[in-house]
Amino acid sequence: MSQPRGQWSSHLGFILAAAGSAVGLGNLWKFPYIAYENHGGAFVLVYIAAIALVGLPIMAAEIILGRRSQQSPVGAFRVLSEGRAGGFLWKGTGLLGVLAGFVILSYYCVIAGWTVKYILMAINGQLGAMVGDGSFNEFFGSFLADGPAQTLWYSIFMGLTIGVVFFGVRGGIERVAKIMVPILFAILIGLAIYATTTDGFGQAMTFLFRPNFSELDTGAILEALGHSFFTLSLGMGAMLTYGSYMRRQDSIPKAAITICLLDTLIAILACIIMFSIIFTENMEVQKSSTILFTTLPQIFFKLPGGSLISGFFYLLVGMAALTSTISLLEVVTSFAIDELKIGRRPAVLMTGGGIYVFGLLNAWSLGANETLTSVNIIGRESTAGVLGTLDYLASNWFLPVGGFLIAIFTGWVLASRTARQEMEEGHGPLPWYAGWRALIRFVAPLVVGAIIVSVILGAEYQ
Ligand code: TRP
Repeated sequence: MSQPRGQWSSHLGFILAAAGSAVGLGNLWKFPYIAYENHGGAFVLVYIAAIALVGLPIMAAEIILGRRSQQSPVGAFRVLSEGRAGGFLWKGTGLLGVLAGFVILSYYCVIAGWTVKYILMAINGQLGAMVGDGSFNEFFGSFLADGPAQTLWYSIFMGLTIGVVFFGVRGGIERVAKIMVPILFAILIGLAIYATTTDGFGQAMTFLFRPNFSELDTGAILEALGHSFFTLSLGMGAMLTYGSYMRRQDSIPKAAITICLLDTLIAILACIIMFSIIFTENMEVQKSSTILFTTLPQIFFKLPGGSLISGFFYLLVGMAALTSTISLLEVVTSFAIDELKIGRRPAVLMTGGGIYVFGLLNAWSLGANETLTSVNIIGRESTAGVLGTLDYLASNWFLPVGGFLIAIFTGWVLASRTARQEMEEGHGPLPWYAGWRALIRFVAPLVVGAIIVSVILGAEYQ
């Protein structure tokens, strides 16, 4: 390593940054809508099981690989696989992660950019006015087709992301996470308290927490599993990269458990909030994939204080998205820093600039695709348009394959002694180490392998 490596200033700093990465559009947009489509209850239970049995062990594995190697994904796999079988494969695993970061960031920022537009529209009253006179219905479609506008909001969001990563691990990422993640929590809790006062609250709770297993199909189970990767930022080395900045005196098991709990809690809170108001207004959800940007604004303005609620709400979504996009860029940037031996600033400008130019394609092509309002953007079956195709590639292929390889590497290639040492350093003796090891060696690869096989076989998740 040619330069001193960044480090989080505290355990809390790492937890907030990693939770910030995990909590994003996946929690606030994707999870509520797939939970809605899959009839709540039983699906939510399966999702929680997926997080506990697959997400949590892989989260710990990624952090172990990062802290052990003190490298970004490519370097981590190179260093840790030295003298072991399959070096070529492991180098590919790291590269796949960097590629996934590049691709996901390029479209995630387009959607994240919409939140900036919505925040401004909430503040200047435009949103309320459009909902009031009914013109909002046409707004979304024409907004997507508006290339220059899309480019503007996308550029702003990418600019913010580059700006944060530019200032480094402690001065940029950790600082922003320390401010935004607590605010995000406060807004969510405020909105959740508000939700308890609505008439639809009881119905929302029943929908979410009364499982009806007859409504669960294989597709739903696979969807829950697949989503657990995306929502926890797993499978491409984001947690690995963040783990490489972790202090040796901090506990990896504690961090992994806290991040998973926070992420799950926030996804469920988001559901409680959205379903409560949807049920209160008895709103018919035509396209569940766009609830966040089309259905919710209409409901907000039926409620007292619509501008205020919608303003805070989109601020929440925007901040959650920003703490996620910075983790995506950090993976690619740290790769450039480590592998090209260049400084952070040129590295950020180079990688961020490259992704920005590539992502313009997404911003401009939205309008060319007439099916876009029905595209499930962060989803499995979305194959429409450039953005949909990239998302399909990333969430169906890159992340599961990356996660599978990470599990195999940690469980079967990395010495158990090394893994144990990382798990216990900063934590103390870990009685359930064997349990984690069984999950990472057997359960995770089998389950993730099943996802990959089902994707290959073309099992669709509806
Ligand atoms: N987890 C984020 C979300 O739920 C998205 C995200 C950020 C991500 N970094 C990632 C997904 C790395 C996969 C890999 O929206």
